[in-house]
Amino acid sequence: MNRPNDQLLVIFGASGDLTGRKLLPALFELYVSKMLPEHFAILGAARTAFTDEEFRAEQRKHILEARGNKETNSEDLDNFFRILFYLAFDSTNTAEYVKLKDRIHLLQQQENLPDKVIYYLATPPLMYELIPKYLQENGMNVAASEDGWRRVIVEKPFGTSLETAQNLNQHLCRIFDEKEIYRIDHYLGKETVQNILVLRFSNGIFEPLWNRNYVDSIEISASETLGVENRGKYYDGAGALRDMIQNHLMQLMAFAAMESPSVFDPEPIRDEIVKVFRSIRPYTIREMNEWVVRGQYDGYREEKNVAPDSNTETYVGMKFFIDNWRWSGVPFYFFTGKKLPEKSSEIVIHFKSTPHQLFAGQCSGSSCNKLVIRIQPDESITLRFGLKMPGAGFTVKQVGMEFRYDSLSKTHLPDAYERLLLDAMLGDSTLYARSDALEASWRFIDPILHHWKEEGSKRLYFYEPGQNGPIERMNLGADSMGAPCDSCG
Ligand code: BG6
Repeated sequence: MNRPNDQLLVIFGASGDLTGRKLLPALFELYVSKMLPEHFAILGAARTAFTDEEFRAEQRKHILEARGNKETNSEDLDNFFRILFYLAFDSTNTAEYVKLKDRIHLLQQQENLPDKVIYYLATPPLMYELIPKYLQENGMNVAASEDGWRRVIVEKPFGTSLETAQNLNQHLCRIFDEKEIYRIDHYLGKETVQNILVLRFSNGIFEPLWNRNYVDSIEISASETLGVENRGKYYDGAGALRDMIQNHLMQLMAFAAMESPSVFDPEPIRDEIVKVFRSIRPYTIREMNEWVVRGQYDGYREEKNVAPDSNTETYVGMKFFIDNWRWSGVPFYFFTGKKLPEKSSEIVIHFKSTPHQLFAGQCSGSSCNKLVIRIQPDESITLRFGLKMPGAGFTVKQVGMEFRYDSLSKTHLPDAYERLLLDAMLGDSTLYARSDALEASWRFIDPILHHWKEEGSKRLYFYEPGQNGPIERMNLGADSMGAPCDSCG
């Protein structure tokens, strides 16, 4: 892969959690693997009063923590910190942007950088409108030179409803061009997720089966063991549907369900994603009641910054259909929740069984042949099928043929943020959500949110922490109900 051209990265919200836990460790990995531009600088901007040195010391801790047992060369760290700078600044005050502008100019001169700047909004969502607005007011949203550019990376959540997502899109598009806006979904940065496209479109053996003639159902799940931890304030206003399904799980589903693009370029790929979202069958009220299961773990209402009478869902299981030629009649399922027994994310393609059973022990239904794409942990792809048990007779045993990413031992498995930051620096938006896709996904989610609002606590089901969600999920009739495939046939 090419190294990006020289540029400057400005991170708003630089003293925050995301910057420390994800962004700077990812940038350091890119530095170590020599993938950063030859001339490059990172300017962290936030309210906390750090000097450059104090900020670097703080980030040193985060990077070492993120690297865990990996050996870290302190010279590498010192060299990396030579391109890391900090500006204490109040992003809610337009007058302060002059300070930022001056610092950017200074860094561009000092580090010999062209007029190419990425702004990363690693801030609370209420700043997504304000920061771009103030950048515009201060003439910082457009490059001063012809070969310069500006890009902006916006973190999720991108809106809280169709209306707010549309408003935010319109607002950003008045300030930046669509092609300059990078809406991040960190699931798309995960290696196994990108591999879905390669698995499907570089092999002749899967695609002929990848349709309603051979596929019985598709399950997409993301389970977490943690609860809301210290994010109660955000989470209580969001819930699992907004937090996980509208973005991460829908993107996974799009990769699993889309048609092959004509060429492997950002726009054709994103066109196919939008088509999938637009083909999802909207729910009737009755279907919403029967096919969308909303759960909350016991004890959630006692969490910090959570309303004591909160109806926010920490679990969602849902069944839906994609009304197009390929998927007509095939149920798709989403499962996601907090405080479940295991942390894992998977896509399971359940194939139809044989039309007639010949062997003892042969499993029936759709649980026999499946392709399990395990996104995390232990990234792997497993094909499960039946084989003869050794010995007398013909008894079938379910076995798995597995490819594990860690068997590619020399390959460094990049963190999602490494890949996504690098792509934004290269100007490749394939793995970023486009505005029309985002709005189409909200169009599907919005009616559910409205319905739940009207329903209040009706049909909100509770589950004990450590259980696989509320028992009502069983009514959905999926094969594994989102349980990770360690336990599948
Ligand atoms: C985030 C959600 O987008 O994704 C969190 O806001 C969730 O609530 C996280 O825990 C899960 O990401 P991952 O990569 O750990 O599966």
